[in-house]
Amino acid sequence: MIYLDNAATTYKKPESVVRAVKRCIKKYSANPGRGAHRLSIIAGEAVYDARERISKFFHTNSPERVVFTCNTTHALNLAIKAFVKPGDHVLISNLEHNSVLRPLHKLKETIGVEYSIFNALTDDLRREIVSHIRSNTKVIISTAASNVIGKQIPLDVLADIKREYNLRLVIDAAQAAGHKKIELDTLSCDAFCFPAHKAMLGIMGTGACIFGGDFAVEPLMEGGSGTLSKSLYMPTALPESVEAGTLGLPGIVALNAGIEFIENYGILEVERRINYLTGLLIERIASVNGAKIIGADHGVVSFLVRDLGSEHTAALLDKYGICTRAGLHCAPLAHHTVGTFESGTVRASLSIFNTRKDVDALYKALKRI
Ligand code: ALA
Repeated sequence: MIYLDNAATTYKKPESVVRAVKRCIKKYSANPGRGAHRLSIIAGEAVYDARERISKFFHTNSPERVVFTCNTTHALNLAIKAFVKPGDHVLISNLEHNSVLRPLHKLKETIGVEYSIFNALTDDLRREIVSHIRSNTKVIISTAASNVIGKQIPLDVLADIKREYNLRLVIDAAQAAGHKKIELDTLSCDAFCFPAHKAMLGIMGTGACIFGGDFAVEPLMEGGSGTLSKSLYMPTALPESVEAGTLGLPGIVALNAGIEFIENYGILEVERRINYLTGLLIERIASVNGAKIIGADHGVVSFLVRDLGSEHTAALLDKYGICTRAGLHCAPLAHHTVGTFESGTVRASLSIFNTRKDVDALYKALKRI
């Protein structure tokens, strides 16, 4: 089996991640932050360790502003609903996933929020974004890397505009986190959202949001927090204020181990390997008669084969033992942007564990198809 659906979820995990989860479940699977007994304390320390590692990995100095969520969608909902208020105008890129578009659309219908869509594919991104700014613009939300065409958005440009116009900046790093070096201390980003289960090499069911400033964040839901239990209100300090209920300890431990693996591997080496494999993938797919690349960059290649539907092509690839993802990838806006809203695309996406042989296998299968 050749797995090329890593933009959805990385399939192969480092052995160290598997061992860490197993050890957590067998040795200290108690409730973190909810008891004074030794196992609960060990579990609480494991959560704190993970906050600290995440904070260092992304160059922030504030483990307490690392908030655990179920996934990136949860993290984005938390940030968007905390920052966007009635009457606000929001800017989003034309490559956004439904995890941005749907919450915003809901806010548009329920509290009269307005949003404009900027073209992330333009040569002059700064000019394009600034041209959409209005007197009530409050937030920019952008993906760091498109899950459909891999396009990398220059985060420094977004950060400059954010500072200059005094806006909030929310980054969807679902595809970028773990695949490229990101240093938040230079980006003044207000919310940086990412999942454990993609390039961070953790498991499904865990994500995180790193909040950038010393501000209070409205919770999405209320419940047990392990502290201030006599109060009818949630605590106001991060991270407890927005982490109601028991945390997903094994997923948090897996994320910590995934980052440790990446640190040892070297994030620049990850970037180099993903770029190398992406180059190969592009070259191979482009050389197949009848295959057309729709968009590709840093680990993601979207393509179509003649007039075969994307789902049909992916189903045929599956018969050759190759896993890709077809359709709209939960990002209809991005598909609108590249002209594939009706057809969708077939997406091959990489992890550091893919090899040249995997790329060759896709090439051979495509030639037969
Ligand atoms: N958002 C994920 C993807 O791109 C699931 O496939």
